[in-house]
Amino acid sequence: MTDRYRTFDLDAPEGREAYFLLTGIVVPRPIAWISTLAADGTANIAPFSFTTVLSSNPPVVCFVSSGVKDSMRNAQHQGDFVYNVGGEDLLESMNLTAADLNRDESEFSWAGLTPVPSDLIKSPRLGEAPISMECTLLDVISFGGGDGNMVAGEVLRIHIAERVMTGDRVDPEKLRPICRLSGSTYATLGEIISLKRPNRQDLIDRGMQPE
Ligand SMILES: Cc1cc2nc3c(=O)[nH]c(=O)nc-3n(C[C@H](O)[C@H](O)[C@H](O)COP(=O)(O)O)c2cc1C
Repeated sequence: MTDRYRTFDLDAPEGREAYFLLTGIVVPRPIAWISTLAADGTANIAPFSFTTVLSSNPPVVCFVSSGVKDSMRNAQHQGDFVYNVGGEDLLESMNLTAADLNRDESEFSWAGLTPVPSDLIKSPRLGEAPISMECTLLDVISFGGGDGNMVAGEVLRIHIAERVMTGDRVDPEKLRPICRLSGSTYATLGEIISLKRPNRQDLIDRGMQPE
């Protein structure tokens, strides 16, 4: 072993050390642009990078609200949310929608974005997004008394702009997704590498054997 290691025990009660380390380690993270509807009818949208697909059967996605944010509150109130995905061209507007506005103010209007009625749920989708997934709330799981709340939703319907598709699939080269790194840094799509997953016979054919 040639590397020298530093060790960290994540027991600081305020969690800032954990935040900076974990968001530097789990990179790059995709950005979900979550749109919801407040109880007073205000359309809300905010970016989340603690997000992933949890299951494809049933189709389930999630985002994590650090503390009880409006997106989580609205999703719980209405029972649904939209998971939008944007490309590089929407980076600036995405950042604008992370501004801490009053609850009755819409990030849509401040950022010049368009809320479009969804087909199956109350939350609006983002008109400018090439991809929007209408989700019905499945569960909110809070972890161990901290401030992490995972909001999981089942995907009911997906809207995909044809301009980001090749055949029946989303084409990452056309989508040009934005990735979050740590702090205020982002990355765009780098080189795309194709790697076939080997089976056991492939390893034998290559003359490999366990040490
Ligand atoms: C790229 C990006 C990713 C973010 N990811 C998260 C996240 O995963 N969880 C979170 O709670 N806040 C995250 N934020 C901050 C929220 O977007 C911000 O607090 C926003 O005001 C929340 O809006 P809301 O109160 O309308 O839900 C992120 C901000 C940016 C710019």
